[in-house]
Amino acid sequence: MSGRQSSRDKRVQFSILCGSVLVAALFLASCQAAQPTAEVSPQEMERAKNALQPFKEQLVDALTGALQEGDPESAISVCREKAPQIAAELSVDGIRMGRTSHRLRNPDNAPEPWVEPLLAAYLEDPENPQPRAVRLDESTIGYVEPIYAMSFCLSCHGPSIEPDLLETIRSLYPEDQATDFRMHDVRGLFWVTLPSDTGTETDT
Ligand code: HEC
Repeated sequence: MSGRQSSRDKRVQFSILCGSVLVAALFLASCQAAQPTAEVSPQEMERAKNALQPFKEQLVDALTGALQEGDPESAISVCREKAPQIAAELSVDGIRMGRTSHRLRNPDNAPEPWVEPLLAAYLEDPENPQPRAVRLDESTIGYVEPIYAMSFCLSCHGPSIEPDLLETIRSLYPEDQATDFRMHDVRGLFWVTLPSDTGTETDT
């Protein structure tokens, strides 16, 4: 009986959680103005930002699907399967993207070397959410946006994760380091690399 009750509660909780994820993702997407960094031009910053946008949006759509099913396992599978799948699908025409963190759940998401100093910069100055960019070589730029932990992320990344959810997470990610985050902590970042002066078709 209490099992039924708690699984219903969990569904409700997850619907709220996923709804909040959507709202927050949209909010973050709209309020982060791209700013030029060092040698990367404002136009390149804008292109990078636009390249990342569908990743965020499709992640939102995938989460909407999970929300309709209302099942924690399916929310996990969005994070586990959909996120990398979407990133892979959008990584075409010389563009590559993904999510990473200093405390990883999935070791496959480990930061590339160029990302490490940018991630470190956000960790040193967590109050500054501005996108950052670097020129990787004469034809490629790398661009990042920080991801902050919010209350609803904590159900899967916080200090007190529901035991059966934690068990599922631990069984899928035996090396999980992505727990014990607090509100407003830098959870990681979105990154994208793209050609520096071609591939402007998507930007008008
Ligand atoms: C339903 C549980 C769940 C929720 C809620 C959740 N995550 Fe995750 N998160 C995961 C799983 C599982 C992975 C591993 C995905 C993979 O295998 O690539 C992950 C991976 C990540 C990663 C990639 C880096 C890494 O550690 O592998 C980031 C960044 C991240 N989550 C941020 C967040 C943020 C920010 C929120 C809140 C907006 C959030 N997550 C909410 C389960 C969740």
